[in-house]
Order: sequence, then structure tokens, then C-alpha cells
Amino acid sequence: AQPWRGLLAEYADRLPLEAEDTPITLGEGGTPLVKSDPLSAEVGAEVYIKVEGANPTGSFKDRGMTMAMTKVASSGCEMVACASTGNTSASAAAYATRAGFSCAVVLPAGKIAAGKLAQAIVHGATLIAVDGNFDDCLRIVRELTQTYPVALVNSVNPYRLQGQKTAAFEIVDALGDAPDIHVLPVGNAGNISAYWMGYNEYAGRTTAASIDDSATRLEAVASRTPRMWGIQAAGAAPFVAGHPVADPETVATAIRIGNPASWDYAVAARDDSDGLITAVSDEQILDAQAILAAETGVFCEPASAASVAGLRHLAQQGQVPEGARIVCTVTGNGLKDTATALGDRAIDPEVIEPTLEAACRALGL
Ligand code: F0G
Repeated sequence: AQPWRGLLAEYADRLPLEAEDTPITLGEGGTPLVKSDPLSAEVGAEVYIKVEGANPTGSFKDRGMTMAMTKVASSGCEMVACASTGNTSASAAAYATRAGFSCAVVLPAGKIAAGKLAQAIVHGATLIAVDGNFDDCLRIVRELTQTYPVALVNSVNPYRLQGQKTAAFEIVDALGDAPDIHVLPVGNAGNISAYWMGYNEYAGRTTAASIDDSATRLEAVASRTPRMWGIQAAGAAPFVAGHPVADPETVATAIRIGNPASWDYAVAARDDSDGLITAVSDEQILDAQAILAAETGVFCEPASAASVAGLRHLAQQGQVPEGARIVCTVTGNGLKDTATALGDRAIDPEVIEPTLEAACRALGL
């Protein structure tokens, strides 16, 4: 088999690409879909984990960024900007480097995991820290990019969702059809909108978020679409409240967002799929992160674990249909935020003499 060529090449016929577009790529997509026997047993279903932390910069953002950055390159613009809770900035900085653009990232001061900041720095982005939250940052970059010749690469750029929809294609390609239920974290609400678009296109339908008619021109691959279950952090749950929240707070800093940009698309995904958007506590998120690492072997960041936390929570409430086929997206790599994952556990292994005997003694063998 041919090696994976990156999602723009793999799904070219379903993406709004023109002849003059030259892909800006790091080989993103093609991420593992891993069955979790422990989670399946716990919730009484067939549970798969879509490991998006396996993307080149460690999060699903790379799917949107390859598409958006390719279109910026075709437009002739040479500077990009984004607001971010960390992952978008890491991805934008890497893909801007690929394209030869300068990149400005606008971040909520003191609320970004260290690994993500390191990524933006090593890729040469200019960092600006705002004394405010993500929603303030997004407002600023929207105004900035409307006034200056700087391209906006947040998910309000419609090409971002076009790239991100390919994760749904990969899941259907791997399973042979859409799952019964798809569970994922919801922050700015771009990803739930993108998955819903992708599942619909593979079922031969379009959604409000679609920007071309490729889906209707192509034969259906899937016979159906899943119910979409979006999971928010309780301290940052505007969809559960039914309105934006002013001071979002959660340990899952990636989804610390009070005023999601893709509000209408996400509500459509929830309602048109007969789905739901609910919230879980920070404690449930950290528990799910630990369980996924210790029992399934997947280390994701806290925001990503919200999907698994939500599934466990809904199972406890009897809402998971027995035997259902369920996919949980875990959106980002645990290595981005080791401090939160370790909590108060220190890294202090016993130091021994360099002999086999000493190693055996230490292991109690
Ligand atoms: N999970 C992770 C790890 C994220 O970084 C994000 C969003 C989400 C989930 C939520 O996805 O916004 O499409 O609903 N991170 C953005 C950022 C906001 O700036 O990196 P969403």
C-alpha cells in the first residue's frame, strides 16, 4: 500500500481545492482509531478512540490548518494570525513555517499549557499574551485581520472546518459505516460542526457549514450519520447554559471558552443528529484522562479526555444504548501538558547502582 500522503491528497475529491493550490502539509491525518476494551466493558458498548494527538503538532488542529494555510498561500497573503487556547497556535506556527509566512498568536495570559507555548516559540511565531480570556483574544484577531493584510486561521475561517471534516471520513473508512454515536469535546465548537459536515457528506448530504457541493456530486460512502454528543467542561459550558458565559473556568484550558464562534453550526449538529451537548466536572475530566492512559494506553490532554468523561457520565445515567458502536475523539496529545497529568505526583524514581542485581532488588524480583 501507498504511504499516507496527508489529508489534502487523500481526500482531494471532497475538498474545495483548485488547480493552483499547492498543499502546505506535514502529512497530517490518517490517525489511529483504537478499540478500547476496558471502556467498552465499562459502558456496555463498542468504544473506539480516535487518537488525534497523533497528528504532526499533536492535535486535530493540523487537519484544518493544512487546508486553511494552503488557501492563504494561494491568496498571496504572507502573514497569518490566530487567537488560541494553545493548540491552534502550535499548529498555525508550524504550518506558517512550512509556508514561509510570519505568524502572530494571541493568547490568554497564564492559561496556556507549557508544551503548546514551547511549540509556538520554537516554530518562530510572535506571541502576544492578553489580560483576558480566549473570547477576548478572538475578538482582537478578528478586528486585526479585518483591518490589516493578515489572514485569520481560526476555525471561523471556513477552510478550517473543511479540513477537519476529514476525521469523520477516516472513521467511516475504518469502520465501514458511520458509528451510532460520536462523542467529542466542545470548546469554540468548530470541530463538532466539522465532524457533522463530514459524516453528512459521506452519507451524501450537505449541511449549513458546507461551502461546496462536492458531497452531493459524489456517491454516498456511509448509509447513515451518527448522533453527535458534545461534551463541555462544567465551568465553561455555554451550550448547556443556552447562552455565552462571561468567565469560563476549567482545568481543561484548551476548552476554556465562553462564547463559541460556531454556535449555530454546533446547535444544528446537536439537534439534526438527535444528539446532545452536556457538561462534566474537572474531576470527571481528570479521572477520564487517567483511566484512558492507565487502561487503554492513550495519553491525551485534559480537554481531550472530556469526550471519554462525557461517555462514562452518560453511561452511568443509563443513556448509552447497549452494544452501540461509539467513537470518542481525543483531540490532543497528553505530552502538551504533563504538569496537569502528573498532578502532585513527583518524577523521582529510585536511583540505583548500575547493575542487574540492583535493578532486581528495586523491582522486588
Ligand atoms: N480539544 C482540544 C485539545 C482543543 O485544543 C480544542 C480547541 C478543543 C478540544 C475544542 O475544539 O474549539 O473546535 O470546539 N482549541 C482551540 C485552540 C480553541 O485555540 O487551540 P473546538
